[in-house]
Amino acid sequence: MVEVLVLYYSRTGRTKALADAVAEGVESVEGAHAEVKRVDYATVNDFISCDAVAFGSPNYFSYMAGIMKNFFDKALSIREKVGGKPSVAFTSGGGSSNSALLSLERMISSFRLEKVTDGVISEGETREEKLRACKKLGETLAKRALERAEVPKD
Ligand SMILES: Cc1cc2nc3c(=O)[nH]c(=O)nc-3n(C[C@H](O)[C@H](O)[C@H](O)COP(=O)(O)O)c2cc1C
Repeated sequence: MVEVLVLYYSRTGRTKALADAVAEGVESVEGAHAEVKRVDYATVNDFISCDAVAFGSPNYFSYMAGIMKNFFDKALSIREKVGGKPSVAFTSGGGSSNSALLSLERMISSFRLEKVTDGVISEGETREEKLRACKKLGETLAKRALERAEVPKD
């Protein structure tokens, strides 16, 4: 069983809905399990112990939420332990949120995670189409995590 961590922050529920859709996509893949955690309840050990991770944040001033950034700051010392994990990102904003997504994807790169596919950007109220895109994101991430788990490590 591969464990996929869906780490998110949400104040008014939009990013949480996207996170739940990502988790649904993960769970649709046989052999994959999703754990959805709001970032303020997560520890760096959750990051270390998962096989793959999806990061979701609202757009705050064209960046990820500060609480999400704080998590990455705390995780700096364990960076060597998470390198290579498959990863994706998603954001929710009042308007277009490319820069917030980019801020998450820069962290994927800084932590030397593997960016599996392009992230999802949701604008305004969460639409069905974006939930479907997030479900697909979770499915793609879980499949990649399974593939990686099957390759013997030497
Ligand atoms: C402090 C703060 C800053 C925000 N800055 C932006 C912004 O720069 N651009 C934008 O499109 N939306 C901005 N928003 C709107 C949120 O990104 C948007 O409402 C988002 O969908 C909320 O997600 P949530 O329901 O998961 O909390 C901001 C909201 C807050 C509270």
